[in-house]
Order: sequence, then structure tokens, then C-alpha cells
Amino acid sequence: MRRIDQLLSNLGYCSRREARAWVTAGRVTVRGVPVTDPGAKADPVDLRIDGGPPDHPDGLLLLLHKPLGCVCSHDIREGPSVYDLLPPRWRRRHPPVTSIGRLDKDTSGLLLLTDQPTLVHRLTSPRHKVSKVYRATVNRDLPNGLAGVFASGTLVLHGETKPCAPATLRIIAPREAELTLTEGRYHQVRRMLASQGCEVLALHRVSFGDLTLGDLPAGAWRELPPNFYSPLCI
Ligand code: URA
Repeated sequence: MRRIDQLLSNLGYCSRREARAWVTAGRVTVRGVPVTDPGAKADPVDLRIDGGPPDHPDGLLLLLHKPLGCVCSHDIREGPSVYDLLPPRWRRRHPPVTSIGRLDKDTSGLLLLTDQPTLVHRLTSPRHKVSKVYRATVNRDLPNGLAGVFASGTLVLHGETKPCAPATLRIIAPREAELTLTEGRYHQVRRMLASQGCEVLALHRVSFGDLTLGDLPAGAWRELPPNFYSPLCI
């Protein structure tokens, strides 16, 4: 059972204060009966808002194909954002919809978004070692021995002291490779390759754990069940 005004606010319909007006206007019913007290509690399955069921009362988990040129930030000063791709109501939810880790503005590919803070925490924690595969195109032929350097667990990035965890490099073409990481440091792929003299010209995240984009076009998202990651599986 959840407070009706709080539910409306948390799901992005209106503020808690505005919920009173919604209730007075008869827009909210419980089992067909108009609600009179916005502070009353109800089971979301019994609730109708403007005649429809509440919008994802159990949370959101989205798999987005992040296009190039948008940022993973809620700060509008940083320019077009991945959150602009979502329906307006989802952008007003509390807790807010947030990306699970970030991709750079100039990186495309698979990005998970959720309004479940504990999930963000679990899936970005280095303890859980979720594999992420990136496809990189670089400005020169990949040097010999690169896979060994990345796999060694000894590579220390500029300005850091802790070595990168072992990473797997699969060479696809002289200037193209897939790199599998289990951590998510700032600009990690670009910095690992730069440390070996290669500038990344294009970067795309192919997968996150077992998840891939399939034929999802850039800018589109699909829903995953909000309990897709049960507490026991990671
Ligand atoms: N590594 C990068 O350099 N950029 C990303 O967006 C993700 C990983």
C-alpha cells in the first residue's frame, strides 16, 4: 500500500501538492471509486489515474541505444542528454531515472537506465565485475603485444596509481578491436588505448553483461522487467 499523493508525485504525474487538485477533480479512483483523500493509501494495482493504470509503479529498467552527441547528465548546461529521449513523465520521476554508469558524449551504444538507486550501485560496483564490451576504431595500426599489456593487470593510467583490472582485447582489423572491461573508470577505453599510442576515433559499447542491443536503432530504448536483476543474480 502506498500513499496516493506520493505515488502520483513519484511516478511523475504531478507534485504532491497538485495531487490534491487531481483527486478533487475525480481523476483518481481506487477499484472504480473516486478517491477523496489524497493522503489515503492504495495498492497500485487497484488505482486508476485518468482511467489508466499507474505508469510503471514497480520501477523502470531501460536498455537504450545511446546515440552519439548526447551526454549522460541531468545538467541541461551540458547539452542534449540521454534523458531527453525519454517520455516527459519519466523525466519527472522520483527517484530520478539515471544511467547505470556513463558513456561519453562521443561514445554510442548500450546504456542501461533505471529509477532504482540500489541497482545503479550494484551494477557499477567494481566488486560485481560486470563485463562490458567496447568496439574501438583507432588512428593507427594496433601495436603488437597490446592484448598482453591489457590482460596483464599491471597497466597504470596517467594520473592514477591503481593498475587497471585485466582486460581482454580481441583484434578485428588492423585499426579496430573489441575490448572487454570489468570496471568503468573515467574515459577508460580511450585512456588505455592512448597509453599505448593509439587515439580512439570511434567508440561503441556492444554489450553490458549478457545484454546486447540487437537491432535496436540509435536513440531507441526497450524496457526490461524492473526486477530483471534479482538481488541473487549479481
Ligand atoms: N571508455 C571510454 O573511454 N568512454 C566511454 O564512454 C566508455 C568507456
